[in-house]
Amino acid sequence: MNLLVTGGAGFIGTNFVKYVMSHRPNWSVTVLDKLTYAGRRENLSDYEGSERYRFIKGDICDPVAVQGAMEGCSAVVNFAAETHVDRSIDDPASFVRTDVEGVRVLLEEFKKDDSRSVFLQISTDEVYGSVQNGRSSEEDTLDPRSPYSASKAGGELLAMSYFSTFGVPVVITRASNNYGPHQYPEKLVPLFITNAFEGEKLPLYGDGGNMRDWLFVTDHCSALVAAIEKGRPGRIYNIGDGQEMTNKEVTFAILEATGTDPSLVRFIEDRLGHDRRYAVDISRAREELNWKPDTDFQTGIALTVDWYRDNPQWWQSIKSGEFREYYKKMYSTRLENSERIQ
Ligand code: NAD
Ligand code: TYD
Repeated sequence: MNLLVTGGAGFIGTNFVKYVMSHRPNWSVTVLDKLTYAGRRENLSDYEGSERYRFIKGDICDPVAVQGAMEGCSAVVNFAAETHVDRSIDDPASFVRTDVEGVRVLLEEFKKDDSRSVFLQISTDEVYGSVQNGRSSEEDTLDPRSPYSASKAGGELLAMSYFSTFGVPVVITRASNNYGPHQYPEKLVPLFITNAFEGEKLPLYGDGGNMRDWLFVTDHCSALVAAIEKGRPGRIYNIGDGQEMTNKEVTFAILEATGTDPSLVRFIEDRLGHDRRYAVDISRAREELNWKPDTDFQTGIALTVDWYRDNPQWWQSIKSGEFREYYKKMYSTRLENSERIQ
């Protein structure tokens, strides 16, 4: 198997490449990544020089870059995306470009060679929208409510149309919120861990009662390898863990794992259109991919905290750059008007 992994320098892409390099010794990997603010080539520096690894800096919206990168590849795993809901509220255009148009460019190139075995489109449980009761199953109606989730829904619908129209062997996975090493510190878990280390406030949106189904990133990676090996073309698989927690519960787990005083927690003005709850039914992945998650939240959060503790240069260099402006813009007024935890 010769994989093209787009977005391989980002959070899940990095963990996936590492997982494949150690668990599938006969596979080789080409990474195509634009290296946006969220991508770090040095995440994968251990593999530079390996015959099984190649890095190409390029944009999935650029047909020439995509053609060069896909040459000789038998499968594509598309992680490349704009991924942060808050940034999508601020600037939806870049999301539509990469998360929809970029998928089209990849599919057009993929379909030129019908010997390729799988086009794995990495999607998200956010395409279901906010779920009041029960768990979303793959046949449920999509109801994306942020520019991020709407763009991801557009990308996967387009991918599925290439299966129906052209017979492209598309497999789609919809994963829940991931956490683990190498996550850019604008997302809840790494932001709160690193703020705790720095003695900065932990800004919880709204009442902190929004619920997510937290999945340790390595468990996501094992599901994706199973989807490549056992996934049926034209099929969608939910990937999650059933570890449903409120943001407040996640925050308290981080306070405990970092030994931080709860007085740093602040309730701030909510995100616009903030989805209250995501929860997925993973029976199809269990039955058809023979996959199950292995890492409980206590273990996963301890591993994650340890990684950020052991790699301060990784996140400190990010937080001292463009991130500072971003943080000021997103949080400074809201933190001035925030409330302490009772
Ligand atoms: P990330 O933001 O950490 O990484 C995205 C990567 O894509 C970066 O390396 C970036 O440089 C690259 N990229 C962005 N635009 C590109 C372009 N036009 N061309 C080439 N490369 C480009 O994201 P992540 O959290 O690792 O998410 C990876 C994928 O998984 C995304 O498709 C996301 O929608 C999906 N997903 C993420 C989660 C989660 O909790 N993080 C959950 C479910 C699904
Ligand atoms: P996030 O990590 O941005 O992922 P997503 O929006 O894709 O679920 O946010 C996870 C949850 O944490 C979400 O309910 C929003 C909330 N949140 C905060 O309360 N404070 C923050 O500073 C951030 C970034 C997120």
